[in-house]
Amino acid sequence: MKSDTKPAVCVVGLGYIGLPTAAVIARAGCKVLGLDVSQKVVDTINRGEIHIEEVDLDGLVHGVVARGLLSASTEVAPADVFVIAVPTPFDKDHAPDISYVLSAGRTIAPVLKQGDVVILESTSPVGTTEQLRDLLAELRPDLKVPGRTAEIPDISIAYCPERVLPGRILEELTNNDRSIGGVTPRCARKALAFYKRFVRGECVTTDARSAEMTKLVENAYRDVNIAFANELSIVSDTMGLDVWEVIRLANRHPRVNILSPGPGVGGHCIAVDPWFIVHGAPEQTPLIRTARGVNDGKMHHVVARAEALVEAHPKAKVACLGLAFKANIDDFRESPARFVASRLARKFGSQIHIVEPYAAQLPIEFTDTGATQIDIDDALETCDILIVLVDHDVFRVVPLAERAEKLVYDTRGIWPDQPQAVREQEAALRLAS
Ligand SMILES: NC(=O)c1ccc[n+]([C@@H]2O[C@H](COP(=O)([O-])OP(=O)(O)OC[C@H]3O[C@@H](n4cnc5c(N)ncnc54)[C@H](O)[C@@H]3O)[C@@H](O)[C@H]2O)c1
Repeated sequence: MKSDTKPAVCVVGLGYIGLPTAAVIARAGCKVLGLDVSQKVVDTINRGEIHIEEVDLDGLVHGVVARGLLSASTEVAPADVFVIAVPTPFDKDHAPDISYVLSAGRTIAPVLKQGDVVILESTSPVGTTEQLRDLLAELRPDLKVPGRTAEIPDISIAYCPERVLPGRILEELTNNDRSIGGVTPRCARKALAFYKRFVRGECVTTDARSAEMTKLVENAYRDVNIAFANELSIVSDTMGLDVWEVIRLANRHPRVNILSPGPGVGGHCIAVDPWFIVHGAPEQTPLIRTARGVNDGKMHHVVARAEALVEAHPKAKVACLGLAFKANIDDFRESPARFVASRLARKFGSQIHIVEPYAAQLPIEFTDTGATQIDIDDALETCDILIVLVDHDVFRVVPLAERAEKLVYDTRGIWPDQPQAVREQEAALRLAS
C-alpha cells in the first residue's frame, strides 16, 4: 500500500462498532467492503439502510453506499487494511470467548498479501492480538508475520480498541483519542498511518498488550466507581436516606466526584470487560470482582424493592419506564432495566406495563407474562406507579404536573422534584408495621 493512495479496507463485523467504523472510513474516501456472517445485515446495508439505531448513521450509510464507497458481503475479498470488529462475549463462567475473533482471522487469512495491515478493534483479553497473529502465521506459512521473523514482516498486525459512547458514535469515532498497539513498533506505525486518515483525536502508539489492557482498565474503572455509587444507594435505602441528595452534597467537595447509581450496570462493555481482567489475574483482582458483584446485586435489590412496592398496592397499574441498558439507545443487551422489568412482569403479569420508545415490541421473555407495552402518554394517563429504570430524555422531560400524583420509584434520579417518592412510602409502611 503506497502512502499516497487510499487503501482498500475490509471491515469484518458490521454491528454497533463495525458499521459506523466502515461508514466513517468510506466517508474519508477509502473503498470499504463490509463483511458479515449475517445475510440480512449485508442485504440491509447494500440497500443503503441500517439495522441498528445510531444518531446520523442512516444518512451517512445511505450516502457512502450510494457513492459506491461502501458495500457489504458475506464473502471476503482482498484489501489493504482489515479491521476486525466482531463480538467478544464471555461464557457462563465469565471466561472470555475469542472464538469470533479467531473465526474472523480464518476468514481473512486466505486473501492476505504482502503489505496488508490487520487491526483488531474488538475488546479483547490481553494476548488476543498475538493469538490472532499466531493463527495467521499457522494458516499462511508463506507470509512473514511480525514478532516471528527477524526480517521485515510481510504484514502488520495491531490492536486498536474502541471507546465510543452509543448515541455519539460517529462523533466520537473521529474525535476521541486512540491507543494503537502494535505487535511490533513497526506494526503500530502502519496502523497509525491508517487511523490518521479519519481520526481527528490524538493517536498514541504503544504495544498490543498494553492497548488491550487499556481498554479493559477503562471499563473496569467505570464499573468500580459505579459500584461505589450503587453500594451507597443500597446503604441509603436501608437508612431511609435520599442517595441523590447525599451524592449532590458530597460532590461539592473539590476532590470528590461520585458517579450516579442506577438499577445495575448493563451493556456488553462495562458489565463484561472487567471479567476479562479477573480471568487473566484471578488472585489479584478482589476489588474488580467485588465491584461486579455489587453492580449485579443492585439489580436484585431493585427487584426486591419494586416487588414490595407493587405487593403493597395490589390494585395499582404499574409502568416500568425503559428497558435499554442506558439512555436514548435501542441496545437491550445485558440490560438491568430489562432484567428488573421482566422479573416484575413474570410475577405480576397484566398489572405491569412497559414503556420503551426504542423497542418496536417487547423482548421474548415478556411473552405470555400478560405484561403489555404502552407509550409514555398512556402510562402518565393510566398508571398509578411509575418505576423509572432508564433515563431516556423522553422520560426526563415529563413535567412534575403530569406525575405529581403518581407513586414513583426513580432508580436513575431523573425526577429530583418528585414529591411522592417511594422512600416516603416505605417509611410510612415501616411506621405502620
Ligand atoms: N457497542 C459498543 O458500544 C462497543 C464499544 C466499544 C467496544 N465494543 C466492542 O466491539 C466489538 C463488537 O461489538 P458490537 O457491539 O459492534 O457487536 P455487534 O454484535 O453489534 O456486531 C458484531 C457483528 O459481527 C458479526 N459477526 C460475528 N462473527 C463474525 C465473523 N466471524 N465474521 C464476520 N462477521 C461476524 C455479527 O453478525 C454482527 O453483525 C466487541 O468486542 C465489543 O466489546 C463495543
